[in-house]
Amino acid sequence: MEKVPICLVGCGGMGHRHVMGYKELQESGIGNLDLVAVCDIRRENAELVANEAERLLGRKPMVFDDLDQVLAHPNIAAVDVVTDGSTHHAVGVPALEAGKHTMVEKPLGITVRACQTMIDAAQGSGAVLATAENYRRDTPNRLVRAIIDHGLLGDPYLMIQTSLGGDDSMAITPWRHLKEKGAIGLDMGVHYADIIRYYMGEYSEIFGRGLIVEPVRRKPDHADHPLISYRERAKTYPETVEATGEDSVIALYTMASGAVVQLSYVGGGRGSQGWERSVHGRFGAVYAPGERNGRPVVLRLEGKELKGKEILPLLPQFELNEITERLFGKQGVEYEPPVDADHAVFAVDAKHLAIEYHDFGEAILSGTGPEVDGESGMKAVAAIVGAYESALAKHSVSMEAVLSGEVQQYQADIDAALGLDAP
Ligand SMILES: NC(=O)c1ccc[n+]([C@@H]2O[C@H](COP(=O)([O-])OP(=O)(O)OC[C@H]3O[C@@H](n4cnc5c(N)ncnc54)[C@H](O)[C@@H]3O)[C@@H](O)[C@H]2O)c1
Repeated sequence: MEKVPICLVGCGGMGHRHVMGYKELQESGIGNLDLVAVCDIRRENAELVANEAERLLGRKPMVFDDLDQVLAHPNIAAVDVVTDGSTHHAVGVPALEAGKHTMVEKPLGITVRACQTMIDAAQGSGAVLATAENYRRDTPNRLVRAIIDHGLLGDPYLMIQTSLGGDDSMAITPWRHLKEKGAIGLDMGVHYADIIRYYMGEYSEIFGRGLIVEPVRRKPDHADHPLISYRERAKTYPETVEATGEDSVIALYTMASGAVVQLSYVGGGRGSQGWERSVHGRFGAVYAPGERNGRPVVLRLEGKELKGKEILPLLPQFELNEITERLFGKQGVEYEPPVDADHAVFAVDAKHLAIEYHDFGEAILSGTGPEVDGESGMKAVAAIVGAYESALAKHSVSMEAVLSGEVQQYQADIDAALGLDAP
C-alpha cells in the first residue's frame, strides 16, 4: 500500500507517545503513513524523539528545528502537529497553506478564531485538516454510540459526564495552568466535549463556567515517569506556577435533539472523587467505563443488565473497522490492558493513535473526510470556551453565537496575545 510521508512537529511528551502510535500503525500490517521526519524548535527534544523513533520503528527520521525547512521539503506530504495548543495555528496555518495535509492534536486551537484560521487555510489549499482526538476511538465508546444509534435506549434525554478529583501538582506541564497557553480545563475538557458530541449529536445552547480550583500548582514528581520526554522536561520546570487559566469546567448543554448534558470536569480539589459517563433514555441507560481501561460497557434495560460483549447480539450490524479489529480483536469491545507494558495506559493509547493516523491516511489517499475534521475540533473547543463565555455574559449562549465569533469576550485577551485580533 502507498504510504504518506509525514513529519511529526512537536516532540514533547505527546510527541513521544505519537511515535509509539506510529509503531502500532506499522505493526498493524495496514500502515498508510511513514514517519520520515521530526521537528521541534528545541533541537534536543527533536533528537530525543528521533532516537525513540529509531528504536521503535527501526529507522531514524530526519531531524529539523525549523518548520520552514519541513514545509519546503518535497518528500514530506503531511504534518502531525503535536506542539502545545497555543501554537497549533502558528504551525497548522503555514503547513496547510503549503499544501501539506495536517493533523492537529486536540484542542484544535485554543480559541474559536484560532481554529477557524486553520479551517480557512485548509479550504484555501484543499489539503486535509484532521483533529487528533483519540478518546472516541476506544472500543467501548464505539459500542455506546452503536447502542444509541440502534435505538436501544429510546431517544436519549440526558447524558452525564463527571470527572472529579485532583491535587495541586501541575497537570503534566506548567503551560497547562496559563490562560493564554490553553489551560487544562480546555485541554482536557475538549476530550469530553468531543465524546458528548459523538454520543449525542450537535450542541445547541451552553450555560456554565470555568474555575481555577487550585491557584498555585507545584512541580510534579516525574523522576520515575516511564516516558523519557516527561522525565527530562520535568527537571526544567519551576517549583511552582501561579494559575491564570481554568483547571475545571462545569456546564449544562442543551443539544439540538433537545437532550440535556451535564458536564463537570474538576481537575483539582482535595477529597473530591468520582467518574461517570452515562446516557439515559426511556427504555434504558448505558454506563461507559472511561478510556483505555478496557472495562465493559454496562447496559441496563427493563429487567436486565448486560455487560460488554453480552450486548453485541442486540447489535447485529455493529462492527469495528479493520484497523480497530486488528488492534483490539474482532469482538474487542472489552479488553485487558497489557500488564507487561511500561505504562499500560500509554500502551493502549498508542493503539488509539494508530487508529486516528490510519483514518487520516485514508482521508489523504482516498479523498474522504477524516472522522474528526477541523469543524469537529472547533466545535469541541467552542463547547468549553462557550461555558466560560456564558459565565462572563451571565446568561446561556448559543453554540452558533460562539462559533460565529458573536460571543467572544472571554477569548478576546487570548486572541490578542496570539496576534489573532479581529481583521
Ligand atoms: N490526546 C491526548 O490524549 C493528549 C495527551 C497529552 C497531550 N495532548 C496534546 O498534545 C499537544 C502537546 O502536548 P505535550 O504534553 O506534548 O506538550 P509539551 O509541552 O510536552 O510538548 C510540546 C513540544 O512542542 C514544541 N514546540 C512548541 N512550539 C513549536 C513550534 N512552533 N514548532 C515546533 N515545535 C514546537 C516544544 O518545544 C515541545 O517540545 C497538546 O495539544 C496536548 O493537548 C494530547
